[in-house]
Amino acid sequence: MALQIFRTKRIETDLETDLGLKRCLTAWDLAFLGIGAIIGTGIFVLTGIAAATQSGPAVVLSFIVAGFACTFAALSYAELAAAVGGCGSAYGYSYAAFGELIAWIIGWDLLLEYGISVAAVANGWAGYFNNALEAIGLALPEALTKAPKLGGLINLPAFLIILILMGLLIIGVKQSAKANNAMVFVKLVTITVFIAVALFNVNPDNWHPFMPFGWFETLPDGKTTGVLAGASIVFFAYVGFDAVSTAAEEAQNPQRDLPFGIVSSLIFCTLIYILVSGLLTGVVPYTELNVSSPVAHALKLVGINWASALISTGVIAGLTTVMLVLYYALTRIIFAMSRDGLLSPFFNVVNSTTQTPVRVIVICGVVMALIAGFMPLGDLAELVNIGTLAAFVLVCLGVIVLRITQPDIKRPFSTPFSPLFPILGMISCGALMAFLPALTWLRFIVWLALGLIVYFSYSMHHSKLRQAS
Ligand code: ALA
Repeated sequence: MALQIFRTKRIETDLETDLGLKRCLTAWDLAFLGIGAIIGTGIFVLTGIAAATQSGPAVVLSFIVAGFACTFAALSYAELAAAVGGCGSAYGYSYAAFGELIAWIIGWDLLLEYGISVAAVANGWAGYFNNALEAIGLALPEALTKAPKLGGLINLPAFLIILILMGLLIIGVKQSAKANNAMVFVKLVTITVFIAVALFNVNPDNWHPFMPFGWFETLPDGKTTGVLAGASIVFFAYVGFDAVSTAAEEAQNPQRDLPFGIVSSLIFCTLIYILVSGLLTGVVPYTELNVSSPVAHALKLVGINWASALISTGVIAGLTTVMLVLYYALTRIIFAMSRDGLLSPFFNVVNSTTQTPVRVIVICGVVMALIAGFMPLGDLAELVNIGTLAAFVLVCLGVIVLRITQPDIKRPFSTPFSPLFPILGMISCGALMAFLPALTWLRFIVWLALGLIVYFSYSMHHSKLRQAS
Protein backbone atom coordinates (compact mmCIF):
# COMPACT_ATOMS: atom_id res chain seq x y z
CA MET A 1 0.00 0.00 0.00
CA ALA A 2 2.77 2.38 0.96
CA LEU A 3 4.16 1.83 -2.49
CA GLN A 4 0.92 2.63 -4.20
CA ILE A 5 0.10 5.87 -2.47
CA PHE A 6 3.51 7.29 -3.37
CA ARG A 7 3.59 5.94 -6.91
CA THR A 8 4.03 8.77 -9.39
CA LYS A 9 2.45 9.06 -12.78
CA ARG A 10 4.66 9.20 -15.86
CA ILE A 11 4.80 12.62 -17.42
CA GLU A 12 3.08 12.71 -20.81
CA THR A 13 3.39 15.87 -22.79
CA ASP A 14 0.15 17.58 -23.79
CA LEU A 15 0.72 16.60 -27.37
CA GLU A 16 0.80 12.91 -26.32
CA THR A 17 -2.45 13.09 -24.33
CA ASP A 18 -4.60 14.35 -27.12
CA LEU A 19 -8.20 13.93 -25.98
CA GLY A 20 -9.69 15.26 -29.14
CA LEU A 21 -10.17 18.73 -27.70
CA LYS A 22 -9.59 21.41 -30.27
CA ARG A 23 -6.24 23.16 -29.94
CA CYS A 24 -7.46 26.62 -30.76
CA LEU A 25 -6.23 28.96 -28.01
CA THR A 26 -3.42 31.39 -28.77
CA ALA A 27 -1.10 33.02 -26.25
CA TRP A 28 -3.32 36.12 -26.13
CA ASP A 29 -6.47 34.02 -25.75
CA LEU A 30 -4.84 32.44 -22.72
CA ALA A 31 -3.89 35.80 -21.27
CA PHE A 32 -7.48 37.01 -21.79
CA LEU A 33 -8.81 33.79 -20.28
CA GLY A 34 -6.68 34.57 -17.24
CA ILE A 35 -7.91 38.16 -16.98
CA GLY A 36 -11.48 36.85 -17.46
CA ALA A 37 -11.09 34.51 -14.51
CA ILE A 38 -9.03 36.78 -12.28
CA ILE A 39 -10.70 40.21 -12.13
CA GLY A 40 -13.94 39.84 -10.23
CA THR A 41 -15.38 39.83 -6.74
CA GLY A 42 -11.94 40.30 -5.20
CA ILE A 43 -11.48 43.80 -6.56
CA PHE A 44 -15.12 44.83 -6.99
CA VAL A 45 -16.38 43.68 -3.55
CA LEU A 46 -13.72 42.41 -1.15
CA THR A 47 -11.54 45.52 -1.51
CA GLY A 48 -14.30 47.45 0.26
CA ILE A 49 -14.76 44.91 3.05
CA ALA A 50 -11.00 44.55 3.58
CA ALA A 51 -10.46 48.34 3.59
CA ALA A 52 -13.29 48.95 6.07
CA THR A 53 -12.53 46.14 8.50
CA GLN A 54 -8.89 45.08 8.11
CA SER A 55 -6.51 47.30 6.23
CA GLY A 56 -7.93 50.82 5.92
CA PRO A 57 -6.46 52.76 2.98
CA ALA A 58 -3.43 50.46 3.31
CA VAL A 59 -5.53 47.86 1.47
CA VAL A 60 -3.27 48.78 -1.44
CA LEU A 61 -0.38 47.25 0.57
CA SER A 62 -2.51 44.16 1.16
CA PHE A 63 -2.82 43.80 -2.63
CA ILE A 64 0.93 44.21 -3.08
CA VAL A 65 1.73 41.58 -0.42
CA ALA A 66 -0.74 39.09 -1.92
CA GLY A 67 0.56 39.92 -5.42
CA PHE A 68 4.12 39.01 -4.41
CA ALA A 69 3.06 35.62 -3.05
CA CYS A 70 1.12 34.96 -6.25
CA THR A 71 4.02 35.98 -8.49
CA PHE A 72 6.31 33.36 -6.95
CA ALA A 73 3.56 30.75 -7.25
CA ALA A 74 2.74 31.80 -10.82
CA LEU A 75 6.36 31.31 -11.91
CA SER A 76 6.25 27.79 -10.47
CA TYR A 77 2.91 27.14 -12.17
CA ALA A 78 4.40 28.33 -15.45
CA GLU A 79 7.27 25.85 -15.21
CA LEU A 80 5.03 22.89 -14.39
CA ALA A 81 2.28 23.84 -16.84
CA ALA A 82 4.85 23.84 -19.65
CA ALA A 83 6.80 20.77 -18.51
CA VAL A 84 4.05 18.50 -17.13
CA GLY A 85 0.87 19.98 -18.61
CA GLY A 86 -2.56 18.33 -18.64
CA CYS A 87 -5.95 19.81 -17.81
CA GLY A 88 -5.73 18.62 -14.20
CA SER A 89 -3.42 21.54 -13.28
CA ALA A 90 -1.83 21.26 -9.81
CA TYR A 91 -3.50 17.87 -9.36
CA GLY A 92 -1.69 16.51 -12.42
CA TYR A 93 1.65 18.05 -11.43
CA SER A 94 1.42 16.52 -7.96
CA TYR A 95 0.69 13.10 -9.47
CA ALA A 96 4.00 13.36 -11.34
CA ALA A 97 5.99 14.87 -8.48
CA PHE A 98 4.70 13.41 -5.22
CA GLY A 99 2.58 10.40 -6.08
CA GLU A 100 -1.04 9.48 -5.80
CA LEU A 101 -1.95 10.38 -2.24
CA ILE A 102 -0.69 13.97 -2.39
CA ALA A 103 -2.19 14.29 -5.88
CA TRP A 104 -5.52 13.20 -4.46
CA ILE A 105 -5.28 15.65 -1.58
CA ILE A 106 -4.48 18.52 -3.93
CA GLY A 107 -7.23 17.47 -6.37
CA TRP A 108 -9.72 17.34 -3.50
CA ASP A 109 -8.44 20.74 -2.42
CA LEU A 110 -8.93 22.14 -5.94
CA LEU A 111 -12.55 20.98 -5.87
CA LEU A 112 -12.95 23.17 -2.80
CA GLU A 113 -11.12 26.08 -4.42
CA TYR A 114 -13.11 26.17 -7.65
CA GLY A 115 -16.46 25.05 -6.24
CA ILE A 116 -16.51 27.55 -3.40
CA SER A 117 -15.06 30.30 -5.65
CA VAL A 118 -18.10 30.08 -7.89
CA ALA A 119 -20.38 30.36 -4.84
CA ALA A 120 -18.37 33.31 -3.52
CA VAL A 121 -18.39 35.15 -6.84
CA ALA A 122 -22.17 34.53 -7.06
CA ASN A 123 -22.45 36.39 -3.76
CA GLY A 124 -20.47 39.31 -5.17
CA TRP A 125 -22.60 39.23 -8.31
CA ALA A 126 -25.79 39.29 -6.19
CA GLY A 127 -24.59 42.42 -4.36
CA TYR A 128 -24.32 44.39 -7.61
CA PHE A 129 -27.49 42.82 -9.01
CA ASN A 130 -29.52 43.85 -5.93
CA ASN A 131 -28.07 47.30 -6.25
CA ALA A 132 -29.26 47.51 -9.84
CA LEU A 133 -32.75 46.25 -8.88
CA GLU A 134 -32.90 48.86 -6.14
CA ALA A 135 -31.93 51.59 -8.60
CA ILE A 136 -34.92 50.76 -10.80
CA GLY A 137 -37.29 50.50 -7.83
CA LEU A 138 -37.61 46.70 -7.82
CA ALA A 139 -35.63 45.94 -4.67
CA LEU A 140 -36.08 42.42 -3.26
CA PRO A 141 -36.99 42.11 0.45
CA GLU A 142 -33.88 41.84 2.65
CA ALA A 143 -34.76 38.29 3.72
CA LEU A 144 -34.19 37.17 0.13
CA THR A 145 -30.86 38.90 -0.40
CA LYS A 146 -28.88 37.75 2.63
CA ALA A 147 -27.57 34.47 3.99
CA PRO A 148 -29.05 33.37 7.36
CA LYS A 149 -25.84 34.35 9.19
CA LEU A 150 -26.34 37.95 8.04
CA GLY A 151 -29.96 38.08 9.19
CA GLY A 152 -31.75 36.96 6.01
CA LEU A 153 -33.31 33.70 4.82
CA ILE A 154 -31.48 33.02 1.58
CA ASN A 155 -29.42 34.95 -0.93
CA LEU A 156 -31.84 34.22 -3.75
CA PRO A 157 -30.04 36.00 -6.64
CA ALA A 158 -26.78 34.19 -5.79
CA PHE A 159 -28.66 30.87 -5.66
CA LEU A 160 -30.45 31.49 -8.95
CA ILE A 161 -27.51 32.79 -11.02
CA ILE A 162 -25.67 29.51 -10.49
CA LEU A 163 -28.71 27.52 -11.60
CA ILE A 164 -28.97 29.72 -14.69
CA LEU A 165 -25.29 29.15 -15.52
CA MET A 166 -25.85 25.45 -14.97
CA GLY A 167 -28.64 25.53 -17.55
CA LEU A 168 -26.40 27.38 -20.01
CA LEU A 169 -23.57 24.91 -19.60
CA ILE A 170 -25.92 21.95 -20.05
CA ILE A 171 -27.39 23.14 -23.32
CA GLY A 172 -23.85 23.65 -24.51
CA VAL A 173 -23.53 27.40 -24.62
CA LYS A 174 -19.80 27.02 -24.72
CA GLN A 175 -17.91 29.97 -23.46
CA SER A 176 -15.77 30.32 -26.51
CA ALA A 177 -12.58 32.32 -26.39
CA LYS A 178 -14.30 34.94 -28.52
CA ALA A 179 -17.21 35.47 -26.11
CA ASN A 180 -14.80 35.54 -23.22
CA ASN A 181 -12.68 38.17 -24.94
CA ALA A 182 -15.77 40.34 -25.44
CA MET A 183 -16.70 40.09 -21.75
CA VAL A 184 -13.15 40.85 -20.70
CA PHE A 185 -13.36 43.93 -22.87
CA VAL A 186 -16.54 45.06 -21.04
CA LYS A 187 -14.80 44.48 -17.72
CA LEU A 188 -11.75 46.50 -18.77
CA VAL A 189 -13.94 49.36 -20.02
CA THR A 190 -15.73 49.34 -16.65
CA ILE A 191 -12.43 49.59 -14.82
CA THR A 192 -11.15 52.31 -17.13
CA VAL A 193 -14.31 54.36 -16.51
CA PHE A 194 -13.85 53.96 -12.76
CA ILE A 195 -10.19 54.98 -12.90
CA ALA A 196 -10.91 57.98 -15.11
CA VAL A 197 -13.76 59.25 -12.92
CA ALA A 198 -12.08 58.46 -9.61
CA LEU A 199 -8.85 60.25 -10.59
CA PHE A 200 -10.72 63.56 -10.55
CA ASN A 201 -12.52 62.89 -7.28
CA VAL A 202 -9.73 61.89 -4.93
CA ASN A 203 -9.57 63.66 -1.60
CA PRO A 204 -6.11 62.91 -0.14
CA ASP A 205 -7.51 63.39 3.40
CA ASN A 206 -9.25 60.04 2.95
CA TRP A 207 -5.85 58.31 2.94
CA HIS A 208 -5.28 59.36 6.58
CA PRO A 209 -4.90 57.43 8.79
CA PHE A 210 -3.26 55.14 6.27
CA MET A 211 -2.96 52.02 8.42
CA PRO A 212 -5.64 52.26 11.12
CA PHE A 213 -5.57 48.56 11.99
CA GLY A 214 -1.77 48.05 11.98
CA TRP A 215 -0.06 45.02 10.41
CA PHE A 216 -1.72 42.11 12.16
CA GLU A 217 -3.82 41.35 15.21
CA THR A 218 -6.04 38.50 16.36
CA LEU A 219 -9.25 39.82 17.94
CA PRO A 220 -10.91 38.24 21.01
CA ASP A 221 -13.58 36.62 18.78
CA GLY A 222 -10.87 34.80 16.78
CA LYS A 223 -11.15 37.09 13.75
CA THR A 224 -7.99 38.66 12.37
CA THR A 225 -7.29 42.23 11.35
CA GLY A 226 -4.49 44.40 9.92
CA VAL A 227 -2.79 44.73 6.54
CA LEU A 228 -1.56 41.12 6.51
CA ALA A 229 -4.98 39.73 7.43
CA GLY A 230 -6.33 41.97 4.66
CA ALA A 231 -3.78 40.43 2.27
CA SER A 232 -5.02 36.95 3.09
CA ILE A 233 -8.57 38.08 2.16
CA VAL A 234 -7.83 40.11 -0.97
CA PHE A 235 -5.71 37.18 -2.14
CA PHE A 236 -9.08 36.02 -3.47
CA ALA A 237 -8.75 38.66 -6.17
CA TYR A 238 -5.84 36.71 -7.67
CA VAL A 239 -7.54 33.31 -7.66
CA GLY A 240 -8.03 32.23 -11.25
CA PHE A 241 -4.61 32.72 -12.87
CA ASP A 242 -4.09 29.05 -12.12
CA ALA A 243 -7.25 28.27 -14.13
CA VAL A 244 -5.25 29.20 -17.26
CA SER A 245 -3.24 26.03 -16.71
CA THR A 246 -6.40 23.89 -17.06
CA ALA A 247 -6.55 24.97 -20.71
CA ALA A 248 -3.32 23.07 -21.46
CA GLU A 249 -5.05 20.60 -23.74
CA GLU A 250 -6.74 23.29 -25.79
CA ALA A 251 -3.75 25.57 -26.30
CA GLN A 252 -2.11 25.69 -29.74
CA ASN A 253 1.36 25.71 -28.31
CA PRO A 254 0.99 24.96 -24.58
CA GLN A 255 4.67 24.74 -23.81
CA ARG A 256 5.39 28.22 -25.11
CA ASP A 257 2.10 29.99 -24.46
CA LEU A 258 0.97 28.81 -21.02
CA PRO A 259 3.81 30.54 -19.16
CA PHE A 260 3.05 33.72 -21.10
CA GLY A 261 -0.70 33.49 -20.36
CA ILE A 262 -0.21 32.85 -16.66
CA VAL A 263 2.48 35.43 -15.95
CA SER A 264 1.20 38.26 -18.17
CA SER A 265 -2.39 38.06 -16.88
CA LEU A 266 -1.14 38.10 -13.30
CA ILE A 267 1.13 41.12 -13.80
CA PHE A 268 -1.60 43.05 -15.58
CA CYS A 269 -4.19 42.33 -12.87
CA THR A 270 -1.79 43.27 -10.07
CA LEU A 271 -1.26 46.71 -11.61
CA ILE A 272 -5.01 47.20 -12.01
CA TYR A 273 -5.62 46.20 -8.38
CA ILE A 274 -3.07 48.63 -7.02
CA LEU A 275 -4.60 51.46 -9.03
CA VAL A 276 -8.25 50.66 -8.25
CA SER A 277 -7.80 50.01 -4.52
CA GLY A 278 -5.65 53.14 -4.12
CA LEU A 279 -8.24 55.30 -5.86
CA LEU A 280 -11.25 53.74 -4.14
CA THR A 281 -9.94 54.60 -0.68
CA GLY A 282 -9.03 58.07 -1.95
CA VAL A 283 -12.54 58.82 -3.23
CA VAL A 284 -14.45 58.04 -0.01
CA PRO A 285 -13.41 57.35 3.60
CA TYR A 286 -12.58 53.66 4.06
CA THR A 287 -15.23 53.41 6.80
CA GLU A 288 -17.94 53.83 4.13
CA LEU A 289 -16.85 50.82 2.11
CA ASN A 290 -18.25 47.87 4.06
CA VAL A 291 -21.06 47.33 1.55
CA SER A 292 -21.80 44.69 -1.07
CA SER A 293 -21.03 46.91 -4.09
CA PRO A 294 -18.31 49.31 -2.89
CA VAL A 295 -17.03 50.53 -6.25
CA ALA A 296 -20.48 51.65 -7.42
CA HIS A 297 -21.33 52.86 -3.91
CA ALA A 298 -18.26 55.12 -3.75
CA LEU A 299 -19.17 56.86 -7.00
CA LYS A 300 -22.76 57.26 -5.81
CA LEU A 301 -21.51 58.86 -2.59
CA VAL A 302 -19.59 61.50 -4.54
CA GLY A 303 -22.68 62.12 -6.66
CA ILE A 304 -21.62 60.59 -10.00
CA ASN A 305 -24.70 58.45 -10.50
CA TRP A 306 -24.27 57.75 -14.22
CA ALA A 307 -20.83 56.21 -13.66
CA SER A 308 -22.14 54.27 -10.69
CA ALA A 309 -24.92 52.71 -12.81
CA LEU A 310 -22.54 51.99 -15.68
CA ILE A 311 -20.10 50.27 -13.37
CA SER A 312 -22.82 48.12 -11.79
CA THR A 313 -23.82 46.88 -15.23
CA GLY A 314 -20.22 46.16 -16.25
CA VAL A 315 -19.51 44.33 -13.02
CA ILE A 316 -22.62 42.15 -13.41
CA ALA A 317 -21.40 41.11 -16.88
CA GLY A 318 -17.78 40.76 -15.76
CA LEU A 319 -18.52 38.55 -12.77
CA THR A 320 -20.56 36.22 -14.96
CA THR A 321 -17.40 35.29 -16.91
CA VAL A 322 -15.48 34.65 -13.71
CA MET A 323 -18.15 32.19 -12.63
CA LEU A 324 -18.22 30.52 -16.04
CA VAL A 325 -14.45 30.05 -16.27
CA LEU A 326 -14.21 28.71 -12.73
CA TYR A 327 -17.24 26.43 -13.21
CA TYR A 328 -15.55 25.02 -16.35
CA ALA A 329 -12.26 24.59 -14.55
CA LEU A 330 -14.05 22.65 -11.83
CA THR A 331 -15.56 20.22 -14.34
CA ARG A 332 -12.11 19.79 -15.97
CA ILE A 333 -10.47 18.83 -12.67
CA ILE A 334 -13.27 16.38 -11.89
CA PHE A 335 -12.80 14.90 -15.36
CA ALA A 336 -9.06 14.48 -14.85
CA MET A 337 -9.60 12.79 -11.48
CA SER A 338 -12.34 10.56 -12.81
CA ARG A 339 -10.19 9.62 -15.84
CA ASP A 340 -7.49 8.47 -13.43
CA GLY A 341 -10.01 6.34 -11.57
CA LEU A 342 -9.79 8.35 -8.35
CA LEU A 343 -13.37 9.57 -8.72
CA SER A 344 -16.23 7.42 -9.98
CA PRO A 345 -16.55 6.95 -13.77
CA PHE A 346 -20.12 8.20 -13.18
CA PHE A 347 -18.64 11.71 -13.53
CA ASN A 348 -16.88 10.93 -16.78
CA VAL A 349 -19.98 10.50 -18.91
CA VAL A 350 -20.78 12.95 -21.67
CA ASN A 351 -24.47 13.24 -22.51
CA SER A 352 -24.98 12.09 -26.10
CA THR A 353 -27.70 14.62 -26.94
CA THR A 354 -26.15 17.78 -25.54
CA GLN A 355 -22.52 16.59 -25.80
CA THR A 356 -21.85 18.10 -22.41
CA PRO A 357 -20.98 16.36 -19.13
CA VAL A 358 -24.49 16.89 -17.76
CA ARG A 359 -24.05 14.86 -14.57
CA VAL A 360 -21.01 16.78 -13.35
CA ILE A 361 -22.56 20.10 -14.32
CA VAL A 362 -25.82 19.39 -12.46
CA ILE A 363 -24.27 17.96 -9.30
CA CYS A 364 -21.75 20.80 -9.05
CA GLY A 365 -24.42 23.40 -9.88
CA VAL A 366 -26.91 22.30 -7.24
CA VAL A 367 -24.27 22.02 -4.52
CA MET A 368 -22.71 25.40 -5.37
CA ALA A 369 -26.13 27.10 -5.58
CA LEU A 370 -27.03 25.88 -2.09
CA ILE A 371 -23.70 27.06 -0.69
CA ALA A 372 -24.06 30.45 -2.41
CA GLY A 373 -27.58 30.88 -1.07
CA PHE A 374 -26.81 30.09 2.53
CA MET A 375 -23.22 31.13 3.29
CA PRO A 376 -21.95 34.74 3.38
CA LEU A 377 -19.22 35.99 1.07
CA GLY A 378 -16.49 36.59 3.69
CA ASP A 379 -16.58 33.01 5.00
CA LEU A 380 -16.61 31.59 1.48
CA ALA A 381 -13.67 33.71 0.31
CA GLU A 382 -11.56 32.70 3.30
CA LEU A 383 -12.21 29.04 2.60
CA VAL A 384 -11.26 29.46 -1.08
CA ASN A 385 -8.09 31.27 -0.09
CA ILE A 386 -6.84 28.65 2.34
CA GLY A 387 -7.45 25.91 -0.24
CA THR A 388 -5.80 27.81 -3.07
CA LEU A 389 -2.82 28.81 -0.94
CA ALA A 390 -2.29 25.16 0.02
CA ALA A 391 -2.28 24.24 -3.68
CA PHE A 392 0.25 27.01 -4.40
CA VAL A 393 2.58 25.80 -1.64
CA LEU A 394 2.56 22.32 -3.16
CA VAL A 395 3.09 23.59 -6.70
CA CYS A 396 6.19 25.50 -5.54
CA LEU A 397 7.43 22.40 -3.73
CA GLY A 398 6.67 20.37 -6.87
CA VAL A 399 9.13 22.49 -8.87
CA ILE A 400 11.90 21.72 -6.39
CA VAL A 401 11.09 18.00 -6.13
CA LEU A 402 10.81 17.45 -9.89
CA ARG A 403 14.11 19.19 -10.53
CA ILE A 404 15.70 16.60 -8.25
CA THR A 405 13.74 13.48 -9.21
CA GLN A 406 13.37 14.19 -12.92
CA PRO A 407 16.18 16.56 -13.85
CA ASP A 408 16.07 15.65 -17.54
CA ILE A 409 12.47 16.40 -18.54
CA LYS A 410 12.14 19.18 -21.05
CA ARG A 411 11.44 22.50 -19.32
CA PRO A 412 10.42 25.05 -21.95
CA PHE A 413 10.05 27.58 -19.12
CA SER A 414 12.21 27.55 -16.01
CA THR A 415 11.28 29.33 -12.81
CA PRO A 416 14.04 31.91 -12.35
CA PHE A 417 16.32 31.68 -9.30
CA SER A 418 15.11 28.19 -8.40
CA PRO A 419 15.01 26.96 -5.66
CA LEU A 420 14.99 30.47 -4.11
CA PHE A 421 11.78 31.69 -5.80
CA PRO A 422 9.81 28.48 -5.16
CA ILE A 423 10.95 28.59 -1.51
CA LEU A 424 9.88 32.23 -1.24
CA GLY A 425 6.55 31.20 -2.79
CA MET A 426 6.09 28.49 -0.17
CA ILE A 427 6.97 30.85 2.67
CA SER A 428 4.77 33.72 1.48
CA CYS A 429 1.75 31.55 0.64
CA GLY A 430 2.21 29.63 3.91
CA ALA A 431 2.31 32.94 5.82
CA LEU A 432 -0.89 34.15 4.18
CA MET A 433 -2.53 30.88 5.28
CA ALA A 434 -1.36 31.57 8.82
CA PHE A 435 -3.09 34.97 8.80
CA LEU A 436 -6.49 33.38 8.19
CA PRO A 437 -8.82 32.84 11.17
CA ALA A 438 -8.89 29.62 13.20
CA LEU A 439 -12.43 28.77 12.06
CA THR A 440 -11.31 28.76 8.43
CA TRP A 441 -8.51 26.36 9.33
CA LEU A 442 -10.99 24.10 11.07
CA ARG A 443 -13.30 24.01 8.03
CA PHE A 444 -10.31 23.30 5.78
CA ILE A 445 -9.09 20.45 7.98
CA VAL A 446 -12.59 18.91 8.06
CA TRP A 447 -12.69 19.06 4.24
CA LEU A 448 -9.28 17.38 3.95
CA ALA A 449 -10.24 14.69 6.48
CA LEU A 450 -13.33 13.95 4.41
CA GLY A 451 -11.08 13.67 1.37
CA LEU A 452 -8.83 11.12 3.08
CA ILE A 453 -11.86 9.00 3.97
CA VAL A 454 -12.96 9.02 0.32
CA TYR A 455 -9.41 8.18 -0.84
CA PHE A 456 -8.86 5.22 1.43
CA SER A 457 -12.36 3.82 1.04
CA TYR A 458 -12.77 4.32 -2.74
CA SER A 459 -10.12 6.03 -4.84
CA MET A 460 -7.16 3.93 -3.81
CA HIS A 461 -8.91 0.74 -4.89
CA HIS A 462 -10.11 2.11 -8.23
CA SER A 463 -6.96 3.97 -9.26
CA LYS A 464 -6.06 3.31 -12.93
CA LEU A 465 -2.39 3.55 -11.99
CA ARG A 466 -2.86 0.69 -9.51
CA GLN A 467 -4.75 -1.39 -12.07
CA ALA A 468 -2.10 -0.78 -14.72
CA SER A 469 0.62 -2.04 -12.45
N1 ALA B 1 -10.29 36.23 -8.65
C1 ALA B 1 -11.67 35.99 -8.83
C2 ALA B 1 -12.48 37.08 -8.25
O1 ALA B 1 -11.94 37.98 -7.66
C3 ALA B 1 -12.08 34.67 -8.28
O2 ALA B 1 -13.69 37.07 -8.38
